[in-house]
Amino acid sequence: MAVDLLLGLQWGDEGKGKIVDVLTQNYDIIARFQGGPNAGHTLEFDGIKHVLHTIPSGIFHKGSINLVGNGVVIDPVIFKKELDNLAKFDLDLKKKLLISRKAHLILPTHRLLDAASETAKGKAKIGSTLKGIGPTYMDKTGRNGIRVGDLELKDWKKKYRALANKHEAMIDFYNVDIQYNLAELEAEFFEAVATLKTLQFIDSEEYLHQAQRNDKTILAEGAQGSLLDIDFGTYPFVTSSNTTAAGACTGLGVSPGSIGEVFGIFKAYTTRVGSGPFPTELFDDYGKTMAKVGNEFGATTGRPRRCGWLDLVALKYAVQVNGVTQLMMMKGDVLSGFDTLKICTAYQYQGKEIDYLPYNIEAENVTPIYSEMKGWKEDLTKMTEASEFPKELNDYIEFLEKELEVPIKIVSVGPDRTQTIHR
Ligand code: GDP
Ligand code: IMO
Ligand code: MG
Repeated sequence: MAVDLLLGLQWGDEGKGKIVDVLTQNYDIIARFQGGPNAGHTLEFDGIKHVLHTIPSGIFHKGSINLVGNGVVIDPVIFKKELDNLAKFDLDLKKKLLISRKAHLILPTHRLLDAASETAKGKAKIGSTLKGIGPTYMDKTGRNGIRVGDLELKDWKKKYRALANKHEAMIDFYNVDIQYNLAELEAEFFEAVATLKTLQFIDSEEYLHQAQRNDKTILAEGAQGSLLDIDFGTYPFVTSSNTTAAGACTGLGVSPGSIGEVFGIFKAYTTRVGSGPFPTELFDDYGKTMAKVGNEFGATTGRPRRCGWLDLVALKYAVQVNGVTQLMMMKGDVLSGFDTLKICTAYQYQGKEIDYLPYNIEAENVTPIYSEMKGWKEDLTKMTEASEFPKELNDYIEFLEKELEVPIKIVSVGPDRTQTIHR
């Protein structure tokens, strides 16, 4: 069986958690392939709102298996909190939550290094989530990391000590004022590792190969968004993993030829949390309304998200890099009542009009060129079928489909599982 992918096409927080939860009924296995607790994936159903960071968003479905893949970085302390939050749901986590032995561990000192690096950068900081993501992937590619499988070895704490000592020296090197009590952090870490060890560690690529052979359906869940990809995002204001389609192959060990549908998910407008260029960012009342109505606060850090018009240039780029086969448009309900909607269809760049993403998209280099469309007034949140959509919403959707050359198959009209309309 093919492996389907679900990826965010913007700067994250597109609504991946909600849609993975909606789609899980069609899949046997949901597998996260990159990122770590920098992610915050929100699900709402039966009046409950739940935020997941590392655990895949299929976890609430009775029959589903949820796999944390080799490409993911795991902070045992945050993972334990996630498990604690799930305790009341009567889920058989020992059976349905599997962890790749090849996933890397975020150590307490990785978090401290993230903070030291950000502090040292001053105004040029990335605006990271301070979860230790960058330093952990640096140790992975530097071939120094500690993996989940190491926890099954007797002398892993020796390896841990050596790495933590090295990290402490590196923190000193930054010469910034970072206060910490490592003994306390380590006590919490080792307790959380003990909890992690109650779950099943597996050779996940082998598990997935077997599953494919046995005709199991698999959905790979992305984190962050394509514009935060380490290679294709707005570097250096990106995360430290490949968030795009190819990341699912390396983050799970599935071959490119086995990829089926690529679901690309985007908001009807754009948001970004943290630093970095954002050509269509708004500082006016339209932006403020998006933030307020859309409740645009980071699910992991609580920081306000920057808001702006839909950027079709960036979206087209993301569709191409990922090979998206179906689109999903989220949060159309937030735009109800806007008199006019703008869509950025090109950039003014070095005196020319271009419709591709250039190397440098800082505000001083690109000026967005907009198409304007009439907005819709109707409240979408109670709608259950596409036939109820106002003409202006259909016009908006059809314009995007024409420009992106990919059908929009799902339109989400609210945060709840049920507020999902298939077209
Ligand atoms: P993710 O990181 O891609 O999973 O997205 P987040 O959970 O960080 O952010 C998406 C936010 O929008 C969450 O608060 C969701 O509950 C909410 N949401 C998702 N879809 C919709 C929608 O169609 N309309 C509205 N109003 N909210 C939505
Ligand atoms: P989900 O999966 C939005 C951003 C951070 C920062 C940059 C680097 O919920 O969509 P990092 O901690 O990864 O080193 O931070 O990336 N960022 C996200 N923004 N949604 C996310 O995840 C993000 N994960 C990281 O704000 O700008
Ligand atoms: Mg999020």
